[in-house]
Amino acid sequence: MKHFNVILKPDGKQVSIHEGATLLDAAAQAGIILNTVCGGRGTCGKCLAYLEPDATQVLACQCRIGSDLTATIPPESRFFEQRILTEGLDGRHEIQPDIYRDYSQAEAICGLAVDLGTTTVVAKLIDMRTGRGLATEAALNPQTRFGDDVVSRIAYAETGEKAADLHKAVVGCINDLTGKLCRTAAVSSKDIYEACIVGNTTMSHIFLELPVAQLGRAPYEAFSLEAHDLSAGDSPLQINSAGNIHTVENIAGFVGSDTVAVVLATGMDCAEETTLIVDVGTNGEIVLGAKDKLYAASCAAGPAFEGARITCGSRAADGAIEAVVAIGDEIDLDVIGNSAPRSICGSGLIDALAVLLDLGIIDRTGRFTERLELKEKLPDPIFSRIIEYQGQPAFSLAAAENANERPVFLSQKDIRESQLAKAAIRAGIRLLQQKMGIEDRDIERILLAGAFGNYINPRSALRIGLLPEVGAERIHFVGNAASAGAQMILVCRRSRNQAGELARKIEYVETAHQGSFQDVFADSLLF
Ligand code: FES
Repeated sequence: MKHFNVILKPDGKQVSIHEGATLLDAAAQAGIILNTVCGGRGTCGKCLAYLEPDATQVLACQCRIGSDLTATIPPESRFFEQRILTEGLDGRHEIQPDIYRDYSQAEAICGLAVDLGTTTVVAKLIDMRTGRGLATEAALNPQTRFGDDVVSRIAYAETGEKAADLHKAVVGCINDLTGKLCRTAAVSSKDIYEACIVGNTTMSHIFLELPVAQLGRAPYEAFSLEAHDLSAGDSPLQINSAGNIHTVENIAGFVGSDTVAVVLATGMDCAEETTLIVDVGTNGEIVLGAKDKLYAASCAAGPAFEGARITCGSRAADGAIEAVVAIGDEIDLDVIGNSAPRSICGSGLIDALAVLLDLGIIDRTGRFTERLELKEKLPDPIFSRIIEYQGQPAFSLAAAENANERPVFLSQKDIRESQLAKAAIRAGIRLLQQKMGIEDRDIERILLAGAFGNYINPRSALRIGLLPEVGAERIHFVGNAASAGAQMILVCRRSRNQAGELARKIEYVETAHQGSFQDVFADSLLF
């Protein structure tokens, strides 16, 4: 088969790739991961690239290589610039390390705690005797080149060969992270005897090479909810071959062991206070309850808060507006990387919606107020930001800096997309509240988990109705609590047993099957 040279700019990387491969494949081969929200089906428009010599715009996933070529991949098409959250509750929860005793003949006994996220893989190297973290590394999950969300990964894994691609990609990623951790902490990978893996149910299944097709169709059942212990000698993970790899119990098809780990790390299962944990993501996970009873649900929020389906949306990469605030006649923006604004990410989107509501530019239904009315009530500098996009009103957040750029704005359609995402999460929370028979005011703590949660402005989240109406002081960020939970399960037998009990105790609620779902969802669309 013919091969061609592909040069990728501005990195200057060059790869040789076979005829008929896509530019997306070439970029992946060069280690450049692109945004592939639609899984390479050519429908999301997030993998734009520009071909030399005349900057022809193409979708990398649809661009077949038939000659040598040079392409520029702009920052907004790149996944790797997304910030990765690696901090969690490290050290805040008391644990009694005892699993190291299984390896008491060894001198140095290290462990690996891995949070296998759909988007990000976070690995921690742990001293098994003390339970202390020695180093933390994170990387984007290389499976993203096969699709951004679990649904597209499940669809991709339709054949054994493709499922093996996904498995190999994630194993390679964990091994790379392990290598980095060992170099940082100056230990050998042979000193790693135990690994603990948590993740959503699809990620756990792919890691364990279990079938995933049934997770993609109703009733979305897991092949296995159980914990698994694998001999390291039979596994491709590069740790001591005498070691053990432990995967944690899942709760249901769409609520996995990462949620178990979050509950464990936050101590929610022992708390007297009624607590709500929300992990906002494409597939948002929520847990509500206190020590006596816990309910969990997943909400198909879709990728709007990750920038997909939003005209100027992107993930949290350089150039993305991450915060918006109205000060007098001005709209103040925080842009990641302190560069010129090129897009808007999830936290910026939530802020922008809150600002539009505060200024009366949109109403509770999400509709733009009539232009004449806005002209009367808004100061000129704000009114001048009301523009038109495809015959619909839109709000300009940042003007284009030159003729080759476009402004960053929110259109009426973007507001509708955001409403759908926020309604999915809020409806899920409301349905769990109905199960428990509690009102908003009864929720004593809201814990925002996961990478996105840490960047959300709680006041904006409350303003747009993403979260129940409680005082902002009840909202706390818990960072990467899944990783902290994995660390506990790695080193401590009691935590390991507790995780199993939790997975069985947490009652999974299939929100779409609740009789009131349609009404609750419709109500949750309102800001
Ligand atoms: S359009 Fe290329 S990945 Fe979606």
